[in-house]
Amino acid sequence: MKALILYSSRDGQTREIAARIAQTLAPQQLCDVIDLLQAQRVDWTQYDRVLIGASIRYGHFNPALMKFVTQHQLQLQQRVNGFFSVNLTARKADKCTPETNAYTRKFLEKSPWQPECCAVFAGALRYPRYRWFDRIMIQLIMRMTGGETDTSKEVDYTDWNKVTLFAQDFAHLPGKSL
Ligand SMILES: Cc1cc2nc3c(=O)[nH]c(=O)nc-3n(C[C@H](O)[C@H](O)[C@H](O)COP(=O)(O)O)c2cc1C
Repeated sequence: MKALILYSSRDGQTREIAARIAQTLAPQQLCDVIDLLQAQRVDWTQYDRVLIGASIRYGHFNPALMKFVTQHQLQLQQRVNGFFSVNLTARKADKCTPETNAYTRKFLEKSPWQPECCAVFAGALRYPRYRWFDRIMIQLIMRMTGGETDTSKEVDYTDWNKVTLFAQDFAHLPGKSL
């Protein structure tokens, strides 16, 4: 049986985190890493573990996330399952847990699926890659919240060690009989 890692990513950071988790789980655990937006027809019989990761843009996860977990609540719960969110607010030490990160907390409050394990990772700030409007908006938010405002910079705030530890915790969750 394999693990399925689904990601919802706009600029690639959540996809990279998903890939790092897959790398950490290998070679003991084979993994498929798939874009959540391309996951209309999952062959659930192949998987005994499933992890979903999603990033925040202008205060929201992609609506496809809530739709997916609502539609597939049963399949998720039957397997060992987990969730991680990615956003820039989580670069702050007091906003990087499921309880203290407002986006993640609100998602968990609304979601019919309650993941067995959950993590919040700080994302990346990549000014040069953003279109003009997004660059100005993110710079404004960074100015208000004491972050990087130099628009020539790219900053990777992800704590990759935390990602590895989360992957190991996920791998150690006891299996379920399907
Ligand atoms: C246009 C835009 C809007 C964003 N809005 C938020 C936000 O509202 N709150 C936040 O914490 N991070 C916000 N971020 C930061 C992203 O969550 C962060 O860059 C993350 O790494 C993106 O993940 P992705 O590359 O997988 O899409 C925003 C980033 C962009 C480019």
